[in-house]
Amino acid sequence: MPRADLVIRDARVVSLATGPRPRRGAAMRELGVVPRADVVVRGDTIDAVLPRYEGAAARELDARGRVLLPGLVDCHTHACWTGSRVDEWERTLAGATYLEVQAAGGGIMATVRAVRAAPCDALADATRRRLDAMLAHGATTIEVKTGYGLTAEGELHMLAAIRAAAGGFPGTVVPTALLGHAIDPERRRFLDETTGATLDAIHAAAPGIAIDAFCERGAWSVDDTSRLLARARALGHPVRVHADQFTSLGMVEAALGLGAASVDHLEASTPATLARLAASSAIAVLLPACGFHLDGRFADGRSLVDRGAAVAVASNANPGSAPGGSLPFALALAVRHNRLTAAEALTAATVNAACVLGLDDRGSIAPGQRADLLLLDTDDERELAWAAGLPPVRTVVAGGRVVRTAA
Ligand code: NIG
Repeated sequence: MPRADLVIRDARVVSLATGPRPRRGAAMRELGVVPRADVVVRGDTIDAVLPRYEGAAARELDARGRVLLPGLVDCHTHACWTGSRVDEWERTLAGATYLEVQAAGGGIMATVRAVRAAPCDALADATRRRLDAMLAHGATTIEVKTGYGLTAEGELHMLAAIRAAAGGFPGTVVPTALLGHAIDPERRRFLDETTGATLDAIHAAAPGIAIDAFCERGAWSVDDTSRLLARARALGHPVRVHADQFTSLGMVEAALGLGAASVDHLEASTPATLARLAASSAIAVLLPACGFHLDGRFADGRSLVDRGAAVAVASNANPGSAPGGSLPFALALAVRHNRLTAAEALTAATVNAACVLGLDDRGSIAPGQRADLLLLDTDDERELAWAAGLPPVRTVVAGGRVVRTAA
């Protein structure tokens, strides 16, 4: 037998490898734990999960019974940005709401102005530093949205910066084109331009990229969001949407009609809307860092899971509603405020998050899966969500290579 490239010995393997993907309802609590196993890696792929691997390996890690998880998948971030919104944060602490700051010309448009003015390499450097910090907390696959460009030129500028930041990054970056993020008040035909020329430019530069929009009062209406996403679907793009973050407008139902891959936020959703979402094939993405940072409102994750939904959790890293970017911290919040169990939270940030991004080669530990792995400093996987803010991450493996390890 040829020598393995990496063997992780004697691990408590939380495989997440049983059952259909995505996991729905009660199945989100089935983690497929193998209490003691060796995980064998060849190249960038998991070759075997065995009671004992007797062959040779270029590198061995002794887990000593600690938990081995699939690398985490952060399926909703706005990690490509520059500029500061700390003054705006202080205004919200003094009582202004997120939507009031936005209506006064700040919020997303403040970051749009900073991003449009930034040189591509500076934007890429800022993004890369955030990606490295997120990787250190265990996220080996990170979605990064555009959405601070908003013109064809601005969105292509962001896409170039995201691609440059991804170059040489040991994990995987999945870009999403968030074309409908705000309304640019300085462009008279902004909605038509976005749905026409901007979408066409992104379609040419990145065919198949997911297209996203923020449907909200003072941002994109249900009708305009639906028009953008319907055209994106007709061009062959998967579509996602920010819906019911502050206001329940009917966008969840419209998105389900458009075959959205995910519906994200849901803090203001009614029970009837959550029931419709739970019965659909769309994945509900919870973003509890927003409630933590802004206003103490959280989506009812418990009712989604109890109604049989497929649920994911993401960091939502961005300068306005969720500074930071630690996915384990989002899991800590999801357990405390969205009322997921620790096991459901692990499923939400691995196999289900991979499904949001259309990736079936990761999110579990099984032969043929990409060798993205996370060795924890504990023998109890619940500690990832328990240890709020300081995750017990010991070693991160991305594509078969050890990319972070504790001293
Ligand atoms: O998902 N609400 C829309 N988009 C982000 C916030 C982006 C920003 O404020 O810059 C969100 O919360």
